Amino acid sequence: MFEAAETEPRPADPGPARDRAKSVIRTEGLSMIFGAVRALDRLDIDIAEGEFVSIMGPSGSGKTTLLNILSCLDTPSEGVYRLDGVDVSGMSEQQRAMIRREKIGLVFQQFHLIPYLTALENVMLAQHYHSVADAGEAREHLGNVGLADRADHLPSQLSGGEKQRVCIARALVNEPAIILADEPTGNLDEENEKVVVELLQRLHGEGRTIALVTHNPEMGALAGRTIYLRHGRLDRQVIR
Ligand SMILES: Nc1ncnc2c1ncn2[C@@H]1O[C@H](COP(=O)(O)OP(=O)(O)OP(=O)(O)O)[C@@H](O)[C@H]1O
Ligand SMILES: [Mg+2]
Repeated sequence: MFEAAETEPRPADPGPARDRAKSVIRTEGLSMIFGAVRALDRLDIDIAEGEFVSIMGPSGSGKTTLLNILSCLDTPSEGVYRLDGVDVSGMSEQQRAMIRREKIGLVFQQFHLIPYLTALENVMLAQHYHSVADAGEAREHLGNVGLADRADHLPSQLSGGEKQRVCIARALVNEPAIILADEPTGNLDEENEKVVVELLQRLHGEGRTIALVTHNPEMGALAGRTIYLRHGRLDRQVIR
């Protein structure tokens, strides 16, 4: 019986799930050159649909530069960036802005909130770009980050952690498939950090693709894979 089983044809090894899934973010020879500084140096990375990847590395290793390109805010000096299979590296600013609004939710360490708009209006502004302003939906997203009772506050009337959570609500209001976050808990206390971590885990559970830049090893370890950058290059990867 054992013999028979041995002679049966075996299916080809499908490899890790990541290799089978559709690639959402793929860079080939990606470089970003600022004068004499090579902030990214021929970087090849591949992130599959639904994957949660953290990006770590020393200060100045190119993490924010990479995220700015992945979010279509910047274009690389050299190399190719394919988003959902489409080469976006040569696209105009307008085209990239459209793709960003369609597909990407961005959370920055610096909040970039409009100072004269309330929390609710800041979230609705993101909807506005999407041409469907819906106060109820915006309020719901503020509620999801525990800020239902701060909807009418101006950014100057919010704490750092509250501002960060407004940014997260704003990033999520259009239900983006891809979430890119640059040190989203860098300004938060432990309790608010927990709120953000749980939110990221929930989003991952819902099937979103997440790339998270962090200096916090515990947060980095939440991801299924960590990419370590060094001098703009891929230093190593840890797969969990
Ligand atoms: N606009 C720019 N002009 C010139 N140099 C830049 C510019 N942006 C970034 N750099 C340089 O590129 C390198 C990578 O910067 P980047 O902000 O990507 O680092 P980082 O890994 O995000 O660091 P940190 O952990 O401190 O946020 C740094 O040496 C930085 O000084
Ligand atoms: Mg940075």
